Amino acid sequence: MNKVSPSILAADFGDLRNEIKKVEEGGADMLHIDIMDGHFVPNMSFGPGIVKKLREDSKLFFDVHLMIENPEKYIDAFADAGADLITVHAEATKHVVRCLQYIKSKGLKAGVSINPGTPAVMIKELVPFIDLALVMTVNPGFTAQKFIPEVLPKIAEVKAMLPEGVMLEVDGGINADNAAAVTKAGANVLVAGAAVFYADDPAAAIKNLQNQ
Ligand code: DX5
Ligand code: ZN
Repeated sequence: MNKVSPSILAADFGDLRNEIKKVEEGGADMLHIDIMDGHFVPNMSFGPGIVKKLREDSKLFFDVHLMIENPEKYIDAFADAGADLITVHAEATKHVVRCLQYIKSKGLKAGVSINPGTPAVMIKELVPFIDLALVMTVNPGFTAQKFIPEVLPKIAEVKAMLPEGVMLEVDGGINADNAAAVTKAGANVLVAGAAVFYADDPAAAIKNLQNQ
């Protein structure tokens, strides 16, 4: 069974508490929290203050996806805010191993992400330092974009590099139409924003993605 991590970028920001409650009660395995700085990606979202507030009301595993330049500067802030896993982009820092080691030193799980244009080999040397690899299936920055099918072979390439126990997450445009294909390629954690939060029945949408 896949794990599903609903992305709150697609939630109603004016009612985050209830939106999260809905997916927590609806069987989500994690909560995907997208942090954007307007530099690494052409959009901004929220910072550690909001994450800390959300932590007060939720017991979900917080899967924090940093789409920010120089993520090493903000690990302390997101660790203190209650992240369980912090994923940084391999493209966003000159010292990605140092950054991953620092995340682990805080007692958190560490993830590394690659954009659609970044080759799988970028992950190779990082495998001993990670708990999760995240392959972007859209160009990061916005919710409700179209899945890029050309990324599928790369998911399988990354899967082949990972030992048992290291999670393989995909993020961007994941829905009931492509969930089986990404799962077949090796993904076992599916991020879903629009497919869950825009659904009439988010719990059913989560269940459906878990069972692909
Ligand atoms: C995109 C973000 C995603 C996004 C996913 O840059 O990293 O997590 O919110 O949303 P959907 O599933 O709607 O593409
Ligand atoms: Zn994300």
